[in-house]
Amino acid sequence: MAPNVLSTSPSSDLQLPMPKDLSSLFVPSMQGPIKSAFKSVMGNPTLAMINMAGGVPHPDTFPILRLQATVRTPNVSESPGEGTLVIEKATSSQSTESLDELLQYGDGCGVDSYCRFLHKHTQRTHNPPYAGWGVIASCGNTDAIGKAVSLFCRPGDALLVERWTFPGTLSSLRAAGVQPVPVALDSEGMVPDDLDRVCAAWSSETPLRAVYMVPTGQNPTGATMSAVRRKSIYAVAQKHNLAIIEDDPYYFLQLPQYGSDSSTDVGEQPESLLPSLLSMDTDGRVIRLDSFSKILAPNLRCGWITAPRYILNKLQIINETTTLQPSGVSQGLISSMLNDTWGMDGWNAHLRQLRATYARRRDQFVQMVERHLSGLVEYTVPAAGMFLWMKIRFGSAAHADPTAMPRLLETMKKCGVMMAPGMPFSSTGPSPSDHYLRAAFALVDVGMFEPALIRLAQSIVAIRDSSAGDSQDPAKIQLVSPVGPVKSR
Ligand SMILES: Cc1ncc(COP(=O)(O)O)c(C=O)c1O
Repeated sequence: MAPNVLSTSPSSDLQLPMPKDLSSLFVPSMQGPIKSAFKSVMGNPTLAMINMAGGVPHPDTFPILRLQATVRTPNVSESPGEGTLVIEKATSSQSTESLDELLQYGDGCGVDSYCRFLHKHTQRTHNPPYAGWGVIASCGNTDAIGKAVSLFCRPGDALLVERWTFPGTLSSLRAAGVQPVPVALDSEGMVPDDLDRVCAAWSSETPLRAVYMVPTGQNPTGATMSAVRRKSIYAVAQKHNLAIIEDDPYYFLQLPQYGSDSSTDVGEQPESLLPSLLSMDTDGRVIRLDSFSKILAPNLRCGWITAPRYILNKLQIINETTTLQPSGVSQGLISSMLNDTWGMDGWNAHLRQLRATYARRRDQFVQMVERHLSGLVEYTVPAAGMFLWMKIRFGSAAHADPTAMPRLLETMKKCGVMMAPGMPFSSTGPSPSDHYLRAAFALVDVGMFEPALIRLAQSIVAIRDSSAGDSQDPAKIQLVSPVGPVKSR
């Protein structure tokens, strides 16, 4: 069975400050000591004990006898090959548990070897500047967001969010009866002065206790906070004693400047990456959420949470009444790949290759936008992630026309191109002048960028002209480059 929350070793903590105690910000049901239901049933059995406490099946009944996977092996020499990893039923490898252990019930923290790698990785990448931080496994950031929010917000409470934000978070807040409180965004993400203003003006009976943000390659705007912006946001959170939920699935998709040589310019890991909020967290007020979805594969459903240990203990208890931990098969595959096959160097080479791939896609997409949408959209070239956020310039006739966006989407559909409208990302509800589209340049073939953007341009012109009285029936728009169906999601 995996040990309790992995935390920094006492020797590495010696020079570091203790985290501030934020437990007064927890919802009342999470304050004070809470006993883990799991542990109160299972206890901590010693080897000498004949343990008959749990409803735990015997591994001899598990029908999966061996797990074998062929994985890409990135390496520093730019020529990825393939490697095989094998997880045996009863024998653990040097660093990964046996299949029997992976398939057995575990606690709310995650598989030991999986967490150990991520602990090492977090130390190396973010080096949190306080004592007693740790990591636990999550089933990805969607899972982790809901759990982190539930620590600080009850139904009727409020959570600070970016004015445009991840719809999964908005849905989770809606389901939990938590009110999103919008904070202004600019091309560098959440605006510190506005965060300060909203907090200072807050007069509701229930205080603001936490702020949620996506600091890198923000979804949907693609905005990335500079190091200076991150420091200012952290200072405002300190001033108003807010916990920070740092949802950062695009952190490792930081891209070189647009127009530079993207194949050679991605830089070494992790020194060339922007500092995370966790890396400046002297107070221990950041709950950092990382996910493998965008950097390995989404349906592994695996991620990890980094926070002060006493906060992780609460999240562990929430895990033990919900998911327990991600699938042991997923954790075992990841652990074996990272620990046994790739090692830290291979992992870093993989992340570098990923950044180069996304940089090439971003550059090619933006070039096509420049070529076909000049004057029709406004945008900032994203410095991370997979999204280009465009404000549509319909012209003055359609400026506040509430039908302009629905008509544009309908026209785009007829033309055979789909992008996400701004509305589901809005933390303030729909507004007739919210004329935004989010295009993701991660999935479709690069060769589809041009026809997609030509279709978008034609659709915008059709709506702009029809609003100006120069009507063109969208059904009659000629497709410049007809293409077959393209798989999208
Ligand atoms: C900002 C943000 N948070 C969380 C998620 C969901 O991540 P996961 O697949 O780890 O649940 C996404 C996915 O699109 C996202 O953009």
